[in-house]
Amino acid sequence: MSQFTDNFDRKFYYLRLSITDVCNFRCSYCLPDGYKPQGANNKSFLSLDEIRRVTRAFAAAGTEKVRLTGGEPSLRRDFTDIIAAVRENRAIRQLAVTTNGYRLARDVAQWRDAGLTALNVSIDSLDPRQFHAITGQDKFHQVMDGIDAAFAAGFSKVKVNTVLMRDINHNSLHTFLEWIRTRPIQLRFIELMETGDGGDLFRTRHVSGKVIRDRLLSQGWVRQISERSAGPAQVFCHPDYQGEIGLIMPYEKDFCSTCNRLRVSATGKLHLCLFGDGGISLRDLLESDDQQDQLQARVAASLSSKKQTHFLHQGNTGITQNLSYLGG
Ligand code: GTP
Ligand code: 5AD
Ligand code: SF4
Repeated sequence: MSQFTDNFDRKFYYLRLSITDVCNFRCSYCLPDGYKPQGANNKSFLSLDEIRRVTRAFAAAGTEKVRLTGGEPSLRRDFTDIIAAVRENRAIRQLAVTTNGYRLARDVAQWRDAGLTALNVSIDSLDPRQFHAITGQDKFHQVMDGIDAAFAAGFSKVKVNTVLMRDINHNSLHTFLEWIRTRPIQLRFIELMETGDGGDLFRTRHVSGKVIRDRLLSQGWVRQISERSAGPAQVFCHPDYQGEIGLIMPYEKDFCSTCNRLRVSATGKLHLCLFGDGGISLRDLLESDDQQDQLQARVAASLSSKKQTHFLHQGNTGITQNLSYLGG
């Protein structure tokens, strides 16, 4: 099977696979009222065998990197088995997870032994009270212990996701920089995105990542070149800091030109973009091992309808109510 490619000659090396939309946090930009089942129950999330089949089909079509997302992916009891199942595919050299960090301290060594190669942890504030206010969970110290546990388990670098919010953390660059001065952490500021449920928050809190970029450049930080399987972050480094800063700016005009990822939801729908498409079900082709060719053909054919951009820079908003369904 040849590489998944769209009409704009973008090649897709990277699959973001949501394995649950359940979450135990209530981040203000995502699930401010907490998780509420959306007609789906736990049984309707992809099973371990379905996960094995979908990742095998993508691996055969050139996927090199898989990211497990949620909701909170580690709330699945079979999370460690899922990691091992995805890594059965030799072609998948990188397997990452985006997590709220709740289970890190307890389980990260086990995840690493099962084959996890990278970790992205959400931390929007280094102040425990503010962390609690944003996430609805008083777990700041537990998440921090989790990051230490990740280093102790052998991860040489950890990425941290910080959603940039006006007057909440947009003036805290100095605190974040001090934190990464002696730690191999890539801290990424992500522009707050407008979701169906988050219009009011967006209007009051959205700040352009350029504010951070200008401050970094004025303090001697330098932009790095990224590799093809890299995420959308512009990465900056500085000789005095062990850590790096990443900026994810989906409201920039050219953000989508380097798109390298496809998404599959926890109920088995292929999404060509984080915003703006309703999803194409793959589930009927995940029932047995002999459907791999059809599965690849459906994904390849769907790619002709992938749009050039999500048009956020022209005022488009997410039709998705929140990102917990697709994991960002
Ligand atoms: P890595 O470099 O692989 O770590 O990639 P990543 O930045 O894609 O990983 P992560 O899941 O940590 O992404 C961080 C956040 O960036 C997501 O939760 C989204 O909010 C945002 N993001 C990631 N990919 C996209 C994308 O394709 N489009 C948009 N609009 N936002 C994205
Ligand atoms: N805007 C920006 N990022 C978001 N995330 C969730 N909702 C939003 C939003 N509205 C991202 C955060 C979090 C990850 C799981 O999803 O980066 O760390
Ligand atoms: Fe949960 Fe992640 Fe959404 Fe926060 S951003 S509520 S941790 S799914």
